[in-house]
Order: sequence, then C-alpha cells, then structure tokens
Amino acid sequence: MSRYWSAVVHGLTPYVPGEQPKLAGLIKLNTNENPYGPSPRVLDAVRAEAADTLRLYPDPGSDRLRAGIAAYHRVGADQVFVGNGSDEVLGHAFMALLKHERPVLFPDISYSFYPVYCGLYEIAARTIPLSESFEIRVDDYLEPNGGVIFPNPNAPTGRLLARGEIERLLAGNPDSVVLIDEAYIDFGGESAVGLVARYPQLLVTRTLSKSHALAGLRVGYAIGQPHLIDALNRVKDSFNSYPLDRFAQAGALASIEDHAYFESICAKVVASRGRLVAALAELGFEVLPSAANFIFTRHPVHDGAQLAAALRERSIIVRHFRNPARISAFLRITIGTDAQCEALLDALKAIVAC
Ligand SMILES: Cc1ncc(COP(=O)(O)O)c(C=O)c1O
Repeated sequence: MSRYWSAVVHGLTPYVPGEQPKLAGLIKLNTNENPYGPSPRVLDAVRAEAADTLRLYPDPGSDRLRAGIAAYHRVGADQVFVGNGSDEVLGHAFMALLKHERPVLFPDISYSFYPVYCGLYEIAARTIPLSESFEIRVDDYLEPNGGVIFPNPNAPTGRLLARGEIERLLAGNPDSVVLIDEAYIDFGGESAVGLVARYPQLLVTRTLSKSHALAGLRVGYAIGQPHLIDALNRVKDSFNSYPLDRFAQAGALASIEDHAYFESICAKVVASRGRLVAALAELGFEVLPSAANFIFTRHPVHDGAQLAAALRERSIIVRHFRNPARISAFLRITIGTDAQCEALLDALKAIVAC
C-alpha cells in the first residue's frame, strides 16, 4: 500500500500464477506446461533471430506469423490477432469487446484470470454455477448479458463442452460477444474456429503455451471475424504496438508450420492421460472426464490440501485451489511424461496407504 497508488490499484485483486519453483529436481505438475520440448525447428528459428537485426523493432503486425496461423486454421489473415500469451489477448478482448452496461457471464469454477480482468477494467461480472457434475449448462447463459466467456475444455475441471452446445449458445446469444478460450483444445476437443464464419459474435482464443510446448515464448492468438479483430488491434495499438518480439514471431511461426510435431506430442500426452486416469481410479480416486493436459481429481478420504502438501514433501508439485469450497477436495494435476506419472502414482500410493 502506498499513498502514491491510484484508486484503481488500491482496488485490484491480482491473479496469482502457479508457482515456478527455483529448486532443481522437482516434478512440476502444477501449471499445465508440456513435458516435452518444442519442435527442433522452433529452436533453429529462434537461434536465427539472434542477429544484428535485434537493433530493429519487430514487425508490429506479426504479419508472417498471422499468415501462418491463418493458413493452419483456413481463415483469412484479417481474422487473426496475436499477442504476448493468450493472457494478453484475453485482456485486450475484455477491454475491447466485453466492457458494456450488462455483466459478463462466466462459470463460477473457471480460469481465475477472468475476474481479475473485470476488476482491472471495471467490468461487471456474474458467475454462473457449474452443474453438480461440474458441467457448463448452456441454458444458464441465455439471459441478456455483456458477453460470455469460458475455457473449452474448462479449467481447472478439464470438462469439454460439445460443439453442438456451443452452437446452441451462439444461436441463443446473438447480441453480445461469446469468447471461447481454447487454451487446451488440442488435447481432445473439437475447436469452435470452424463456427467463426457463421457467427459474427464469436471470438476463439488459443495459446502456444500448452500443446506447442512454448510457455516460455509467450504467444497466444485469437480468431474471429475482422470487425472483432479490428477492436483488438485498436486496444493493442493503444497499449503496446510491439507485443511479440523477433524470437517469438519466428519461433511461433516455425511451431505452427511444424504441426506434425506438436500433434505428435499432444498424442503422447493424451495417451499418458488415459493411463494415469485408469491407475488413479484403481487407487480409489474420482477423476473428472478430461479433454485437457491435466486432470481434476479427488480422493474420498484424503483432503486435497493435505495430499498436495504430502506430494510436495516428495518433491512433486500439483495445484490445489482452496476456493470455492466445493473444489477444495480436488487436485489439478498436469499430465507429465510416463516416468513423471509413475513417480506421482508411487507417491500417491504411499500417501493414501497411511
Ligand atoms: C484457461 C486458460 N486460458 C489462458 C491461459 C493463458 O495462457 P498463456 O498466457 O500462457 O497463453 C491459461 C494458462 O494457464 C489457461 O489455463
């Protein structure tokens, strides 16, 4: 606290990112990073940018990268916006598209950055409870609103909303923007990008942090009709015209172009997820159906906070959320390599046997 702070800063409740521990030797299953490295072509492209040209600003429009993303998704380059991680893209979208008189709707259990953006941009919000089984009920989102946003698959539950349900939401909500955050869609869902041509209010955001194993490069993007993309560019150019540096633009383009590589590491993660879910069920854990690179699980006897602490003592870190109370029994566990999953299972076996 300081008397030099603005009133806005006094009122903020900032997002708390998952821990990035400085200790070596930990099995880090807490922030949904990919356990495999990025494509070798990404590393070559990034190295090639370490050149005299670093004295020059990067392309403010990231044109080559946007063209590559557009080609991959079979949309026009004017339907693509890129930013410094999808968090930045989301932040701009809240400002550009979700700030209206009516409240923005999002699930009560969802990505915890959404309420933070609402606080920062003074956007009214209303949280909509997930069902008993932690599913999004589209009917609950068909009332007048200032926009709708949720991750698909949802985080931290991992549950997927079927594309038919998304279409029903779009059909019943023509007057405000529907933002589908597809941070995890490459691990098992059908993207809503194919609906963008038919729905002028649909914006889909994606990230290279998870499926492309590029959390360290900070690249995210959005796909929508050009009028929505224009709005995002207006905010971007009122904030930071060069959000992606030369390394990020080159590396991200190489990754998008090497889709066979990132699809192959996603397939490995999905196969490990299947094995981990089956093994946890044998240990007595309930695991929600996951279409993401993490699972959301609880034990009928052992408390979530205690399990997380006991795992930590064994050098394994997972994510535990104290709030809201109805998820405090759960752990969100990132899918690691098979060896990491084995170590996790061994540790959990020992803990639940106590
Ligand atoms: C649902 C969801 N959306 C967006 C993001 C942000 O991803 P990034 O800023 O790394 O692109 C995350 C990160 O964990 C997430 O879980």
